[in-house]
Amino acid sequence: MDLELLYDQGSTMFENVRKGPPKFSKKTSEKIESLINEIDRLVDSGAFLESDFFGKKIGLPFGISAGAAYGSKFLGMYEKLGYGFLTQKTVRMIRWEGNPMPHVMSVGNGDYHSGFLKSENLTTALSNSFGMCCLGPDFWEDDLRKFVKGSKVPLVLSGVVTKPQDREDVIHQYAELAKKAKDIGAVAYEANVSCPNEMEGHSGELQDDNDLCFDIVRESKKAGINVFIKIGFRENMEIFVEKVGRVVDGIVAINTKSAQIKDEKGRFAYTNREKAGVSGEPLKTYAENALLNILKLRSKMGYRFRVLSVGGVTKPEDVRNRLNAGADFVESSAMAMLYPPLALEVKKLLLESSLK
Ligand SMILES: Cc1cc2nc3c(=O)[nH]c(=O)nc-3n(C[C@H](O)[C@H](O)[C@H](O)COP(=O)(O)O)c2cc1C
Repeated sequence: MDLELLYDQGSTMFENVRKGPPKFSKKTSEKIESLINEIDRLVDSGAFLESDFFGKKIGLPFGISAGAAYGSKFLGMYEKLGYGFLTQKTVRMIRWEGNPMPHVMSVGNGDYHSGFLKSENLTTALSNSFGMCCLGPDFWEDDLRKFVKGSKVPLVLSGVVTKPQDREDVIHQYAELAKKAKDIGAVAYEANVSCPNEMEGHSGELQDDNDLCFDIVRESKKAGINVFIKIGFRENMEIFVEKVGRVVDGIVAINTKSAQIKDEKGRFAYTNREKAGVSGEPLKTYAENALLNILKLRSKMGYRFRVLSVGGVTKPEDVRNRLNAGADFVESSAMAMLYPPLALEVKKLLLESSLK
């Protein structure tokens, strides 16, 4: 598998948004073209794939999670790469510089307990620590509204709050972002209550407050839009699902898990911080366990929300396995950023299965 990162690690996120994604290598472009031809042939021979994504027909139940795509240039690329739905990387109500560079790096050996080693080469694991930088609504509202008008796939807007004054302000900020999501034409709004890269007091990780999560979803739904909640790995989800599952349209699980990232000399690899969120391969088992856990609780409680499984997808079979396990939809960020043909390979696999 030839990895090539669809993001310039040496530039800020704002600069990446301005430039748009890097061009694919010749080999990758050829692979993409050949997959598109194979998919066309499968469709001609009767293979069929269609799902309902919150009232919109989609051609693949596999999408981009909040992370890989910020702004219309990246979203447009992932649409062309065959993803069935797209989530815009988390936005805020204001412009926000986030954490100092670097923001993204590959990691190699390690685990969540002992930490990971920065890798000079691309691997199937990425760490990131943006601090959810945001170009501000002046940029993203117009940019995304235009994208929605010209796009055929549903958009999900992910939002987070900034320096809230108090509990009411947290709920208010999430609800205001839900209104903006509705206004730009997004199909769903995702309340991100699980970012591990926020500095203290800036409210990244609110997920342990079950009552607050319930109120965030309930108030956001007043915008008249489908509301998702994005959570990280939790050992015990019973009370969360019992409360939030009553009102939410989709649970997205899981966000990155935080771990120390060091370079080969043992120094912390990110400026001013020890930890970053790790995604990709090392997250796989956590994401699979979270999926099974949520599905079990949903069934026990008789709820109807959808489950969007994300974390550690590295090959097409992972998507098929998650769907077979009961996920309504599957998403990716790390591998989507690292392996451009991923969605087309998933589509080919699922189309082939539809013929059997
Ligand atoms: C570069 C990068 C940036 C991310 N930014 C966000 C974000 O802004 N909001 C969010 O909810 N999750 C963010 N994530 C987490 C992903 O959406 C996803 O939950 C996590 O990476 C696990 O999926 P994966 O293993 O397929 O990457 C980011 C992930 C990556 C790799």
